[in-house]
Amino acid sequence: MKSTLLSLLRTGEGEFVSGEKISDQLGCSRTAVWKHIDALRKEGYTVEAAPKKGYRLAGEPDTLSVHQLKSRLPEPSFVKDILHYPSIHSTQETAHLLASEQAEEGTIVLADEQTKGKGRLGRQWHSPPETGIWMSLILRPDIEVRSAPQLTLLTAVAVVRGIKESLGLDPEIKWPNDILFNGRKAAGILTEMQAEPDRVHAIIVGLGLNVNQDYFPDELADIATSLRLEKGEKVSRTDVLEAILKEWDWLYRMFLKEGFSSVKPLWEAHALTMGKEITARTPRETLKGVAVGIDDAGVLLLRTKDGKLHHIYSADIEV
Ligand code: BTN
Repeated sequence: MKSTLLSLLRTGEGEFVSGEKISDQLGCSRTAVWKHIDALRKEGYTVEAAPKKGYRLAGEPDTLSVHQLKSRLPEPSFVKDILHYPSIHSTQETAHLLASEQAEEGTIVLADEQTKGKGRLGRQWHSPPETGIWMSLILRPDIEVRSAPQLTLLTAVAVVRGIKESLGLDPEIKWPNDILFNGRKAAGILTEMQAEPDRVHAIIVGLGLNVNQDYFPDELADIATSLRLEKGEKVSRTDVLEAILKEWDWLYRMFLKEGFSSVKPLWEAHALTMGKEITARTPRETLKGVAVGIDDAGVLLLRTKDGKLHHIYSADIEV
């Protein structure tokens, strides 16, 4: 009944569909139609009603449909399972737990809301309901422990290319893990590991992407942005995630086969920091200089005024 009513309203293409037509097609009374419309509204659909005109579908909820996502992924896909939660502390924490319980590579934990989303360096990650892509992916690549950060850079390439593919927008990557539009952050990546000193058990790649926020709390207002704000219209989270997963899939396969050197030129093509004067705050010191590139391992190369080349493994970067 619900899907028939929705298809009927959608045939109006934003115009009114008469109550009479709806009750004829559904084979129910006008009062019953009203009740079904009310149920749709409770699910987040915006349905306008006008006397003598009928009903008009003015907006649909941006629900993340796992079913739709799975049906749109290529066969075979590196995504093996998607676990979707309406609300969760942190997809990262749940993914860690699942990984330690032997969840297979390609398991995704996805949430509509995180109540304790975590960012890098112990920061919080603002993850309000139904506005973003809050997800963690479990990977089990046969790589050396020191190569794990390369997956952050690979993910950044997948995110940037997926956004371009689905929305025609061109964000930039700030080493190592920020996706920016004009200096404002739209996404962050958190790569964590379960490993022994010489063996990777699992890598958990967390992605937080601001999609449909139209405002941010005061403390983020000047530094954050969303795809909706950049595009100037509401965006489908499912469409964007589909595009990102498709990019991620082939990039990851290429990485396993050919190593990071195959991903590096794609990363460089979208990198904001390259050739620019930057400040890098590492855990040990603050360095100012020109970001000359990344090496074949994904490590940032910074040349200071004295001509010395520094290898930056972990830092907060200011451009
Ligand atoms: C950053 O600090 O830039 C990284 C932010 C990563 C946030 C994502 S949202 C999904 C996943 N679950 C978490 O708790 N954090 C990551």
